[in-house]
Amino acid sequence: MPIYTTNQGWVLETATTAYALGLNQAGLLVHRYWGARLKAPDDYPTAPNPGSWSAFNNPAQRTPEEYPGYEDIKFIDPCLKVTFADGVRNVVLRFDSAEVRAGEPPELRIHLRDTTYPFQATLHYRVYETYDLIERAVTVTNAGDAPITIERIWSAQWHMPAGGNYRLTHAVGRHMDEMHIRREPLTEGIKLLESRRLTSSHHHSPWFAADHGSADEDAGEVWFSVLAWSGNWKLSAEVTDFGSTRVSMGINDWDFAWRLEPGEVFSTPSSYAGYTVAGFGGASRRLHDFIRDTLLPHGRTIHKVIYNSWEATEFAVDEESQVALAELAAAMGVELFVLDDGWFHGRDHDAAGLGDWWPDERKFPNGLTPLIERVNKLGMEFGLWVEPEMVNPDSELYRAHPDWVLHFPTRARTEARNQLILNIARTDVQDYLIDQLDRLLAQHNITFIKWDMNRNVSEPGWPGAAGDPREVWVRYVHGLYRIWGTLRDRHPDVIWQSCSGGAGRADLGILRLADQIWVSDNTEPTARLAIQEGFSQIFPAITMEAWVTDMGAEYVPFEFRCHVSMCGTLGIGGHLVHWTPDRRAEAARWIAHYKGIRHIVQFGDLFRLRSPQAHPYSALQYVSKDRSESVLFAFRTHLPPPAQLPPLYLRGLDPDLAYEIEGFAGARSGSAWMNGGLSLELADFGSAVRRIRRVE
Ligand code: GLA
Repeated sequence: MPIYTTNQGWVLETATTAYALGLNQAGLLVHRYWGARLKAPDDYPTAPNPGSWSAFNNPAQRTPEEYPGYEDIKFIDPCLKVTFADGVRNVVLRFDSAEVRAGEPPELRIHLRDTTYPFQATLHYRVYETYDLIERAVTVTNAGDAPITIERIWSAQWHMPAGGNYRLTHAVGRHMDEMHIRREPLTEGIKLLESRRLTSSHHHSPWFAADHGSADEDAGEVWFSVLAWSGNWKLSAEVTDFGSTRVSMGINDWDFAWRLEPGEVFSTPSSYAGYTVAGFGGASRRLHDFIRDTLLPHGRTIHKVIYNSWEATEFAVDEESQVALAELAAAMGVELFVLDDGWFHGRDHDAAGLGDWWPDERKFPNGLTPLIERVNKLGMEFGLWVEPEMVNPDSELYRAHPDWVLHFPTRARTEARNQLILNIARTDVQDYLIDQLDRLLAQHNITFIKWDMNRNVSEPGWPGAAGDPREVWVRYVHGLYRIWGTLRDRHPDVIWQSCSGGAGRADLGILRLADQIWVSDNTEPTARLAIQEGFSQIFPAITMEAWVTDMGAEYVPFEFRCHVSMCGTLGIGGHLVHWTPDRRAEAARWIAHYKGIRHIVQFGDLFRLRSPQAHPYSALQYVSKDRSESVLFAFRTHLPPPAQLPPLYLRGLDPDLAYEIEGFAGARSGSAWMNGGLSLELADFGSAVRRIRRVE
């Protein structure tokens, strides 16, 4: 069991890392260590006992508490803030007991209890030994007979080793331009990142990496964490007056309150964290393996080549137009045909129809079954787009239930893309959607659902809420998980895609339900390189849906566009009817090529060799887990002449064994390819995909 209880407290060990905590002399649960695994459980530092030397420098301010509540003379950002029924806004949690639970994963539970009020908190630490990851979450219980209001409840405070200066890496972006990497030094004060939009990730991702300022892709100490939550979240990276650095993550406390009734329990989402000496690449690979093996519902099966008709036909869908596309797609080797928006009742444009999830009678007079059967006969599976959380005011659903949307009765309901948000915090709305979507899935041979969410929140009112209406932020996400989870249970073989106008809902919470993420509505391939690189910091290629479309077609060669999409789960989204036979034949060749390498892309280790966010000449490499096969992708956008492309130094090969690389004569050792590198000749907008094979 990788959890040790010693005189000094507790030690959680993974394959190469360790995390230690314990009680200090003041009886506070404090952080002791997070870094490389040491030889013996007694090797870890003891619990720190900061002394006091002035009224303004109280020890509480300098104590690295594992889960600080808002109390005492301390001004660090606390994890927990509550108001008791008598108005006391002060939570004094002290150690009560600890238990170690065997199981997969093993878990340490530390029970804390308020010194005055019948209020308890349990800190959960789960250890994923082989993935070098630790999961933290918190549950609190109201054991009294009066309600308690929770105003902040975060999942974890992660302490960086004391005495260091840290650099924060995070991702920023927006719709059509997600996931740009930023690295900035952390100095005294708080750096806040958050979502207040109801979804998680268009603008910032609930993820960070911290290093000493010198880590790179291959080497250097990196501490990293993600929050598995698909709603509003907050990340607070704080450097205290005494130079200690801590990063807290959790549900956003902005406009949040939760009335915890007597006997009730509140559970936070999980924060997963890890430490590596293998740089940012090492951190990503830890997350990739964990997500693929542990979270994804279908992470161990190959994800299929998709055709999606959105960019081709938009709302103008009917059986004929889709069959025409399906026939061409099947001939190219596509395995899954996805009918996007426009198929349901009254949906001729984006101002009507959302909410009415049955086939439009004019476009599909005989329902969807004839199209699905046709698609199946062509040898493809069939997938469908839905946007269940939304409603257009021009819909049967809204006319019947105008009170079902988020709103304040006295205020106008702000529309975005002509739509309003259903309040899926309400169980009646959840039940309605479960019923509608269940019927759709039960009545049709659908194996893939693209779940979209195309706006951000406004007027987050919940008239008639039983508890505090500000619970809506959390209950909405719980509602989402319930709807989706119920449908998953009833239709376990369906693959789901999480889309919110691109990567608006890309997080580890949704990846327990969805297998794939729509990375961006921007499919222009040069922009996509950068977006995909950002995405790959957190998510494995198997989740990264990447279509070849017509965006950028005027200036980016078709081959380049295919190569970009082959770096993830390949899809096609162009207008196939408008493609020439030659173009379709070329696409078919790349699809066939992809099928030969996708086991490496989808299940292998990713090495980012040169960053497309930093260089016009970029490269990445996937290596199979047994290191027998690999694939190299390289891209050149625009470089002013004369340009000399630097060598690419491969990674992840066995240094002592010989490898052959397509396009290069003779085998060389892994060490030679990694240290000596290889040179490619590429013109502007040139690209290459090269298979690498170990030779016996
Ligand atoms: C969003 C999605 C697109 C497409 C449209 C349909 O923008 O990101 O891929 O599904 O909605 O309306």
